[in-house]
Amino acid sequence: MKIFSDKTQIQNYIKQIKAKNLSIGFVPTMGALHEGHLSLVKEGFKKNDVVVVSIFVNPTQFDKKEDLHKYPRTLEADINLLDTISKDIIIYAPTVEDIYEGNTVAEHFSFDGLEFEMEGKFRIGHFDGVGTIVKRLLETVEPDNAYFGEKDFQQLMIIKKLVDKHKMSVNIVGCDIYRDPNGLAMSSRNVRLKEAYKQAAPFIYKTLISAKKKFGTESANKVTEWVEKQFETHKLLTLEYFNIADTKTLKSVKRKSKKKSYRAFIAVYADDIRLIDNIALN
Ligand code: PAJ
Repeated sequence: MKIFSDKTQIQNYIKQIKAKNLSIGFVPTMGALHEGHLSLVKEGFKKNDVVVVSIFVNPTQFDKKEDLHKYPRTLEADINLLDTISKDIIIYAPTVEDIYEGNTVAEHFSFDGLEFEMEGKFRIGHFDGVGTIVKRLLETVEPDNAYFGEKDFQQLMIIKKLVDKHKMSVNIVGCDIYRDPNGLAMSSRNVRLKEAYKQAAPFIYKTLISAKKKFGTESANKVTEWVEKQFETHKLLTLEYFNIADTKTLKSVKRKSKKKSYRAFIAVYADDIRLIDNIALN
C-alpha cells in the first residue's frame, strides 16, 4: 500500500509503474468508503495490475456549503479498509491546495446538454465541479481504465462525454449499483441517517422496482404521477424528483419507443440528507 498526497510524488511513482509496463486502474472517490466503493476497486483488479484510489472531498462540486461541511471525512478508516482488499492499492489523498493551487473554482464545461438534466437542474454548477476534478485526476494518474458507479448514472455519462471531448486515452467502465440487503443504494451519506430515516429509506428502491413493473404497461407520465403520489403521503421521505429518461440523452421520455432504452431516476430527502438512486427499465 502506497499513500501519496503530493501530485509530483504520485506522478513520479506512476512513471515507474508505466516503465514496468503494468496497467493502471483508477477509482476516484470522496472517501467515507463503503462496500459500493470497494466493489469498484475489486472490479479494477480484474483488469489491471495496480489500482489507484483517490480520496478527495471536492469543494467545487458542492452547491451547498453546509453539505460540504458535513460530508464525512474518515481517511484513516478508509486506508484500513482498502488495506484489507490488496497491498497493490495506491492511495492518492491530495489537499485542496494541491488540486486547486489557491484558486478553488470550477472550470466550465459543455457536456452537450447532459449537464442540464436532473442533478444538473437541482445542483447548480455540480457537474462543472465534477468535470474539473475528474479531468485533473485523470491527467495526474493517467490510468488505462477508470471505474465509476451507475449509482451516479448521470455522472458516469458525463465522464464518458468529458473523456470523449478531450480525447483522453482512458477507458471508462460503469459498475453496478451496490445495495444494502434491504435494497438501499449504499452511499457515504447513509451514515448520517438517523435511525427512523434509515428504516424508511429502503422505500426508495422498493418504489423504483414497482415503477419498473408499471412501466411495462403504463406511460411514463402515469408512472411518474404514481410515484409522486407514493411520496406525497410519506411521513419521512420528501421527493425532489422522479424522472423516466432516455438512457443515452437523459432527456425525459415523452412517448415510449421499443427501440430505446430507458432508466428511472430519483432524488429524495430523508431529513436534510439527499439520496439518489436509479434503475434500468428495459
Ligand atoms: P463518491 O460519491 O465517493 O463515489 C465514488 C464512486 O463510487 C462513484 O463512481 C460512485 O458512483 C461510486 N459509488 C458510490 N456508491 C456506490 C454504490 N452504492 N454502488 C456502486 N458504486 C457506487 O462520485 C463521487 O464520489 C465524486 O463525484 C467523484 C467522482 C469522486 C468526483 O469528486
